[in-house]
Amino acid sequence: MNIWFMTSLVILSLYGTFSLDNGLARTPPMGWMAWERFRCNIDCVNDPDNCIGEKLFMQIADHMSTDGFKDVGYEYVAIDDCWMSHQRDSNGKLYGNTTRFPSGIKRLADYVHSKGLKLGIYEDYGKLTCAGYPGSLDHLEVDAQTFADWGVDYLKFDGCYSNPKVMDTGYPQMTKALNKTGIPIVFSCSWPDYQRASGMKPNYTLIGDNCNLWRNFNDIQDSWDSVTSIIDYYAKEHDTLAAAQGPGKWNDPDMVIIGDFGLSYDQSKSQMAMWSIFASPLMMSNDLRSVSDEAKEILLNKEIIAVNQDALGVMGRQVYKTGAMEVWTKPLVNKSFATVFLNRNTNGMPRSISMTLKDMGYNTGVDHYTLRDVYLHKSLGNYGINDQFTATVNPTGVVMVTASISTT
Ligand SMILES: *[C@@H]1O[C@H](CO)[C@@H](O)[C@H](O)[C@H]1NC(C)=O
Ligand SMILES: *[C@@H]1O[C@H](CO)[C@@H](O)[C@H](O)[C@H]1NC(C)=O
Ligand SMILES: *[C@@H]1O[C@H](CO)[C@@H](O)[C@H](O)[C@H]1NC(C)=O
Ligand SMILES: *[C@@H]1O[C@H](CO)[C@@H](O)[C@H](O)[C@H]1NC(C)=O
Repeated sequence: MNIWFMTSLVILSLYGTFSLDNGLARTPPMGWMAWERFRCNIDCVNDPDNCIGEKLFMQIADHMSTDGFKDVGYEYVAIDDCWMSHQRDSNGKLYGNTTRFPSGIKRLADYVHSKGLKLGIYEDYGKLTCAGYPGSLDHLEVDAQTFADWGVDYLKFDGCYSNPKVMDTGYPQMTKALNKTGIPIVFSCSWPDYQRASGMKPNYTLIGDNCNLWRNFNDIQDSWDSVTSIIDYYAKEHDTLAAAQGPGKWNDPDMVIIGDFGLSYDQSKSQMAMWSIFASPLMMSNDLRSVSDEAKEILLNKEIIAVNQDALGVMGRQVYKTGAMEVWTKPLVNKSFATVFLNRNTNGMPRSISMTLKDMGYNTGVDHYTLRDVYLHKSLGNYGINDQFTATVNPTGVVMVTASISTT
């Protein structure tokens, strides 16, 4: 072996071909996550029902399993920041705050599993988590093993108190540490978001090799402005993001806030429709103990979830935009499609748009489709590829249709 070849081998083994390959998240993960709705509320003295503690997660698991969420595919109950003690134990291991998680995380995992659900947890690649709890830096292997020992099924790995320039090597070290435990754990990375925010260009090939899902953009907040800023980012970066995604690896535009305070009924339908067109993870952050029936109906819409979970896993794209009207189309298996007409106007009346199916992006050579409104649960009849379809869309709302090959 000459020196050059040997050097190449060393470089390959350092940076080379290891990939996550844990067989998980073949369709976008679905579940619930504490952060957007419950934040870092650790005041169990004054707010015992809403603080970050085992009681909250057990109640959410109860509602997920009994109120129909589990039946349509919601699976993960995910703890976010502020769950742990401020110190590691004498063996250098993390443990849950003993006042708020008196039974310990392993018992909580057992409880969640007993409901037929899975447990997610949160850590951070840096020195500290975003809320100032111990980070995983210099403890990657022990933390991965701790989570595996507890029966954790999903890890959100944040990037506060860390240098985005080292994440290309740092996050993959955690990928390896998780793999070494022998327990398959969904790995959710915040790596590209921190790199974007610092002006770097994320390497999505590397990220897709190491993470099951990853955040690209700002944290979602409980508002329509926040939802539309994310939609705009996904439109602008579509080609890069669409190429990065597929079964086992997903762009994550952040949590679903349907059932909270900030979105109207129409806006809630819009978030559900757009997150499904993107094939985004559907991690709700709401209070499942008290979400309205209207919100529940949107979140439990099986036809829309089927679009989200479609086996192709393709991110839909904006096929048309004029003024405040946008049309987004996502290819589905069997040469089917889903299309969302999104009206960004806020000026009062519903607005109509007419387009041929061809202009909607139905480009697989099929001549006739049967259209279906997936919010009204109603067939809209047969259309030729050059026929005009007309959608009348409420302000900040959507019309969402699926199209399957016409058999008549
Ligand atoms: C670890 O990685 C190997 C090789 O990529 C893969 O076959 C295996 O399933 C992974 N194990 C886990 C637990 O993720
Ligand atoms: C546990 O959380 C409470 C607030 O709910 C806090 O007062 C206490 O210091 C925490 N304990 C540890 C060991 O971090
Ligand atoms: C991105 O990562 C891939 C996979 O590790 C690598 O082959 C490629 O060279 C990287 N691209 C850049 C621009 O660094
Ligand atoms: C796709 O078509 C095949 C063959 O007709 C059918 O078995 C399958 O259920 C279809 N898949 C979906 C998601 O419609």
